[in-house]
Order: sequence, then structure tokens, then C-alpha cells
Amino acid sequence: MDLKTIIFSREGGIGWARFNRPEKLNALNAGVYEDLDKVLEMCVDDDDVRVLVITGNKNVFAAGADIDRMAKGSIKDAYKITDRSLQIYERLADFAKPTIAAISGYALGGGLETALCCDFRIGDETAVIGLPEINLGIIPGGGGTQRLPRLINYSLAAEMIMLGEMIKADRAVEIGVLNRVVSAEDLESEVKKFADKLAAKPAMALRAAKTALRKGLNTSLKDGVCIEQDLFCMLFGTVDQKEGMAAFMEKRRAKFTGK
Ligand code: COA
Repeated sequence: MDLKTIIFSREGGIGWARFNRPEKLNALNAGVYEDLDKVLEMCVDDDDVRVLVITGNKNVFAAGADIDRMAKGSIKDAYKITDRSLQIYERLADFAKPTIAAISGYALGGGLETALCCDFRIGDETAVIGLPEINLGIIPGGGGTQRLPRLINYSLAAEMIMLGEMIKADRAVEIGVLNRVVSAEDLESEVKKFADKLAAKPAMALRAAKTALRKGLNTSLKDGVCIEQDLFCMLFGTVDQKEGMAAFMEKRRAKFTGK
């Protein structure tokens, strides 16, 4: 894969996409978004990738959209940039396999918005999150004003968006943006453990769970329950459902194949 700003590797069932513009604190420019799109395209077709981890470098996940690129932009430029970046954020949010943001250091602006598109966010003790766009005279433009209040309570989201202050790892767990915090030395190994557990689960059921969770957030309870019912019933056509239930009855550990 021809990538310039992201390093991609696969270990077992886990795909690792690592932002790699450390000299610019992994600020997200057009090249990073295009590379992320390529990673998603490749991983969705590769059955061997069962979980995707998005990460950065030690002490910086990503410090936001590239301000150099935006500083002199016009309204038209801003639409052009966001038309494309929003497509990619949506593609990440809808990605058919579980996604984890592994965060060391700054996850600001577009960096946090990328992490908000993931199913899970695991930080290390150096993690600092925030949506500081208000301090630049703008607002988040990568879905932050929409995804954050769907994840945490409205007032806390409004505080983050309107004050634009940085929040440290422990507080980020308390308010529900991070799933957990681990020590800086253990970030990769803890994320790997978490991802390995997911990778061992039945892939079709994981996909169904993700679809039900995500679609359900944007619909009524009644319609959400219907979506859940269809997905629940669909899973009875999978090999993994037969295996999971047979294993339970035979008192052995299930061996899922993703079929
Ligand atoms: N866009 C473009 N460049 C960025 C950037 C961004 N979002 N964030 C950091 N950089 C660049 C800096 O300009 C600097 O480049 P230089 O060495 O060529 O001058 C380099 O990354 C290092 O950043 P610096 O500010 O010197 O590091 P710091 O440790 O003093 O501060 C931050 C770190 C994250 C607090 C600070 O860089 C910052 O506030 N960044 C912007 C965050 C933001 O507003 N994000 C939302 C954008 S919409």
C-alpha cells in the first residue's frame, strides 16, 4: 500500500494504522485523510484484519486538522476540505469491524474527532483530549459537535466545545470519552490484549452489534429494536451461531471462524 503519512502493519488479526507526521504533531492534512481512506479500503476487504487500531506516536495521537492549510482558506476552500474529510470520518465510523483509537498525548480537534469515530478509545496517562477550535475562531468541523454529545452528556460536550480547554486522561475517563487509561509503557500491549479479545469473537455478530448500536443511536427506540431484531435473527444463518451454541452445550470453548 502506497502510504506517505500513515504507517500500516498487521499483527495477527489486528491492523495498526499509525499517523506519522511527528514533526507537525500528526496534524491532519489532505494526505493523511487520503491515506486513512486507503487503509480503510484495504482493511475492509482483508478478512485477516479483524480489528483496526488507529494510533499516533508517543505523546501525540494527532493535534488536529492542519492549521497551516486552513489559515488562509476561503469559505469555498473550507467546504472542499470538509466535504472530503467528512466522507472519510463517516467511512471510519461505519467501518464494518471494531475500531480502537490508542491515544498517547494530544488528541485535539480533528485528532479527537477521528478517535470519536472509533468504537473504543484507550488512552495512556499522557493523553490530553480537547476540541480547541473555538480558540481559532471556528467550531469543530469533523463531526465533533455531533458525535461528542451522542457519546457524553450535553453539558460536558458543550463545555468542551465552547471553552475549548484541554482535558487530561483521568478526567477523560470520568466523563466517558476514554474507555480506560493505562500506563504509557503499556499502551500498545494493553490495546493489543483488548483487540485480541475482540478478534476472537464471531465477526458477523460483532458487525451486527456495531450496526445495531450505531443505527440505534440515530433512531427511535421502536425502530432501533426492529433493527436489533433483524440483525439478531440474521445471525441464526451464521456458522458461528451454531458453533457458539454447540460449544456451550458441549461445555467447550467456541472456535469462531467468522462465517
Ligand atoms: N496544524 C498544523 N501544525 C501544527 C498543529 C496543527 N493543528 N499542531 C501543531 N502543529 C505544529 C506546530 O506549528 C509546530 O510546527 P513548527 O515546529 O514547524 O513550528 C509543531 O507542530 C510542534 O507544535 P508546537 O506548538 O511547537 O508544540 P507544543 O508542544 O508547544 O504545543 C500543542 C502542542 C498541541 C498544544 C499546540 O501545537 C497546539 O495547540 N496545536 C494546535 C491544536 C489545535 O488547535 N487543534 C485544532 C485544529 S482545528
